Amino acid sequence: MSIEVDRHGRRTAWLTARLCTVLGVMPNEARDWSIAALTHDVGKLDLPQELLAKPGALDPDERGLVERHCIAGAKRIMAHTRPDGDDTTTAAIAVALSHHEWWNGRGYPFGLAGAAIPRCARVVAAADVLDALTSVRAYKAAWPLQAAVDEILAQRGTHFDPECADAVEVVARTLPADWRRTAQAWGLQVTLELGRPARVALDAVWAGSRRVAA
Ligand SMILES: [Fe+2]
Repeated sequence: MSIEVDRHGRRTAWLTARLCTVLGVMPNEARDWSIAALTHDVGKLDLPQELLAKPGALDPDERGLVERHCIAGAKRIMAHTRPDGDDTTTAAIAVALSHHEWWNGRGYPFGLAGAAIPRCARVVAAADVLDALTSVRAYKAAWPLQAAVDEILAQRGTHFDPECADAVEVVARTLPADWRRTAQAWGLQVTLELGRPARVALDAVWAGSRRVAA
């Protein structure tokens, strides 16, 4: 499971970088947000693994447990990075915490709405769902790319920041056929190019499943 969470993180990071280009995000911020996307789901390491692998719908109790991965992830990152966090760390915490908030306030964990949701988390949310929909999960097959884009556009202004949904449509037009492999390789390269302190911190965030309680 953690291998797929890791690969999903890398693909989401790559998609985040492309969305940032379309949205005109400054390069230094785009880099921070892409690195932040690598660890957006790291809190899933603190959930029962059988829950994440469960086929079919979750009951309300199970859903409540899964929803704790946002706070668990933010805690994990805070526990393994310097308290005076740099911009990358700040973005990583915001993204882990807020990537399931919805533009209309119906997301979780806090029900933030609109611009109250950090922009980095709004961008990663769109990248996250584009990758999730086009990926196989225990409970679903992979969707064709166009179906995933149509679904995101259908949730423009409800789930997704309108500008992010529009950017997904633009990015999808130029995705190469083998984008998933390209994205995974790119994510790994970004990790390798991080400075040593950041790489050590990233390794620590990923290590020791269940060390930080949700
Ligand atoms: Fe998530």
